Amino acid sequence: MAETAKLELDGKQFDIPVVTGTENEKGLDITRLQASTGYITLDPGYANTGSCTSAITYIDGDKGILRYRGIDIAELCEKSTFMEVCYLLIYGELPTVEQFTKFKDKVLFHSLIHEDMKSFFTSYPGHAHPMAILSAMVCSLSVYHPELLKPDQSPHERDQTITRLLSKVRVLAAFAYKRSVGEAFVYSRPELDYLSNFMHMMFTTPVKLYEPDEVTRRALDVLFILHADHEQNCSTSTVRMVGSSKANLFASISAGICALWGPLHGGANQAVIEMLEAIAADGGNYKKFIDRAKDKNDPFRLMGFGHRIYKNYDPRAQIIKKHCDEVLGKLGIHDPILEIAKGLEEVALTDPYFIERKLYPNVDFYSGILYRAMKIPTNMFTVMFALGRLPGWIAHWKEMIEEPGMRIARPRQIYIGEQQRAYKPMEDR
Ligand code: SDX
Repeated sequence: MAETAKLELDGKQFDIPVVTGTENEKGLDITRLQASTGYITLDPGYANTGSCTSAITYIDGDKGILRYRGIDIAELCEKSTFMEVCYLLIYGELPTVEQFTKFKDKVLFHSLIHEDMKSFFTSYPGHAHPMAILSAMVCSLSVYHPELLKPDQSPHERDQTITRLLSKVRVLAAFAYKRSVGEAFVYSRPELDYLSNFMHMMFTTPVKLYEPDEVTRRALDVLFILHADHEQNCSTSTVRMVGSSKANLFASISAGICALWGPLHGGANQAVIEMLEAIAADGGNYKKFIDRAKDKNDPFRLMGFGHRIYKNYDPRAQIIKKHCDEVLGKLGIHDPILEIAKGLEEVALTDPYFIERKLYPNVDFYSGILYRAMKIPTNMFTVMFALGRLPGWIAHWKEMIEEPGMRIARPRQIYIGEQQRAYKPMEDR
């Protein structure tokens, strides 16, 4: 018999169906609540509200568990590649050799953007933030693929849109960087893998060919795998929200990029480095910054700390921290910012304020250290997050669009404004 919860309202009793997930997560299905009781629920920030059921990613915030399609993130980082994880997230299974070869070839084939788009980049001032350029350019891709804008695409048309986006967003990101440093755009090289090609388009110049190195390529694979998906976070929920109106995938991803830009979300990786550099400039005085983070009258927060779901150490932060030591060691880099990060973490994790609120380092706390080691400029850090999260955004859009009876997202509200009142002529106000 289906499990139900009992709700008593205005002397009447209502049965609320209980929904149980694969990992025994429990939820109250309130799909019929308003129709049957006249009540809605209120949950600012959706901290207690499930927007959908999903088979893509599972997170247990208390145990620090993160799995993509059931496979643990640590195992994927050790044994898989970002390209393979893209396929896993989007299509639900690890690809066979034949499937993977076809997928990679299609992504490689679409590594060019329309030449007209180059003039869009040069119209931006050099100081333009790359996230502004990236979101605008992703939406502009729709102009050059009118055949992929139909609201009800066939599976083949969806696949065409997906592989074009996976390939071209990397190019747009690299071109945004080249614009910001005033260098000529560089095209992809067919012999390079997905991420080495991105680094080639970023760092090759007319006088120096970027030569991929295994340490950087592997570190990027791990970073992008760790960023690839995270269930219903702010930007993924934005992609779902926009896509639920049957807006095309280009528009939905462009909206996700804008949501990710915020310093409370993906913009935190840039804010972390800026914070660590400020601490370094201040003589490494962690305590001053920790006191500010605890001061309710100070809007400053310890960037890279805390998480809505993880009330334990973010498993991604643990893996990145380990890689920081390995990669910087192999590249022969001593970055004082890493020592500051470790010192700050140590002090914060012994402070009752952080312990009581279960505030631990999150994915953004150490990722910037690795990007610095790869010579990625700070203002490109959130673009790196967007490139990593792209397959997750696509997977959630696809899962939603393919859901039978998909409905447009339209949350409700509790009105607290003025009750009805008459218009007053200006002279009487
Ligand atoms: C990402 O959702 C995802 O999955 C996101 C993400 C993904 O992969 O998509 O994991 C990526 O966005 C990681 C988070 C990156 N952002 C930051 O590092 C910014 C700093 N962190 C915070 O702003 C905050 O922790 C959030 C935004 C991450 C979470 O905010 P919540 O869940 O709304 O928590 P809250 O603001 O209600 O905080 C609870 C308490 C408050 O204190 P009290 O009012 O209870 O006294 O903890 C305090 C907050 O003031 N707090 C912090 C803090 N984070 C929370 N205090 C100081 N420094 C912080 N970083």
